[in-house]
Amino acid sequence: MASVDKNQQVYPLAPAHEHPRSDEESANLQAKELKRKKRIKCGIYIAAFAVFQTAVILAFALTVMRVKNPKVRIGKLISIESMETNNTGSGVASFDLKFIAQVTVKNTNFGHYKFDNATMNFLYDGVIVGEAVIPKARARARSTKKLDVTVEVNSRALTSTTALGSELSSSMLTLNSQAKLKGKVELLKVMKKKKSPEMNCTIVFNVSTKSLQDLKCK
Ligand SMILES: *[C@@H]1O[C@H](CO)[C@@H](O)[C@H](O)[C@H]1NC(C)=O
Ligand SMILES: *[C@@H]1O[C@H](CO)[C@@H](O)[C@H](O)[C@H]1NC(C)=O
Ligand SMILES: *[C@@H]1O[C@H](CO)[C@@H](O)[C@H](O)[C@H]1NC(C)=O
Ligand SMILES: *[C@@H]1O[C@H](CO)[C@@H](O)[C@H](O)[C@H]1NC(C)=O
Repeated sequence: MASVDKNQQVYPLAPAHEHPRSDEESANLQAKELKRKKRIKCGIYIAAFAVFQTAVILAFALTVMRVKNPKVRIGKLISIESMETNNTGSGVASFDLKFIAQVTVKNTNFGHYKFDNATMNFLYDGVIVGEAVIPKARARARSTKKLDVTVEVNSRALTSTTALGSELSSSMLTLNSQAKLKGKVELLKVMKKKKSPEMNCTIVFNVSTKSLQDLKCK
């Protein structure tokens, strides 16, 4: 008990708040300075975020939102159903063939491409010798739509068969296919942009083997 009393006497209660005013003020100033620094830091963060966001939006606009023209072409021939050619050598030449072509519509956009029915024309020496319908369809975003189209062509529309006769003599038959799709690329369900890609392919048949010799598209 005595020892406790002694302690109380040695350590009397400190007088309440005897700090000098100047100390309090400097602490206040320090707090203000800290707040200011925090505010500046915050401002820098906001500015950096704004710049970052602008960059993201710009990148988005330049990649995702940029609408590229889809590509339509004949990817390959699935099969040649029939091929008949005559070349009497006396200026009478003819052909009649039926084949299945695979039309591809390559869409590299970030939205789908929807197109209407389109007519695909086949020409020999600039003259239309047959046509086929590319059915309306939808190429999904960043994918290639494949459509098998049956084609029938013959030489009945040709007024002159001289060029055909000479080509058939070298056992070749060259056709040109042309088509123009009409459709829209749809982005984010709201933005629609019209796109009309064109096909221009050259198909070369080997008449003696009744097979495909060459297929090129522009
Ligand atoms: C080729 O000639 C034959 C007989 O001369 C005829 O039956 C055939 O229909 C002709 N083919 C074509 C493609 O004109
Ligand atoms: C597209 O073709 C299909 C079948 O060939 C036909 O039923 C439809 O009416 C066509 N649509 C247009 C817009 O031409
Ligand atoms: C298609 O391509 C050929 C060459 O391969 C060219 O001569 C022709 O003019 C083109 N046609 C169209 C309609 O672009
Ligand atoms: C047609 O095919 C045969 C066999 O592959 C080949 O020998 C011939 O050269 C081809 N014809 C042409 C015009 O390329």
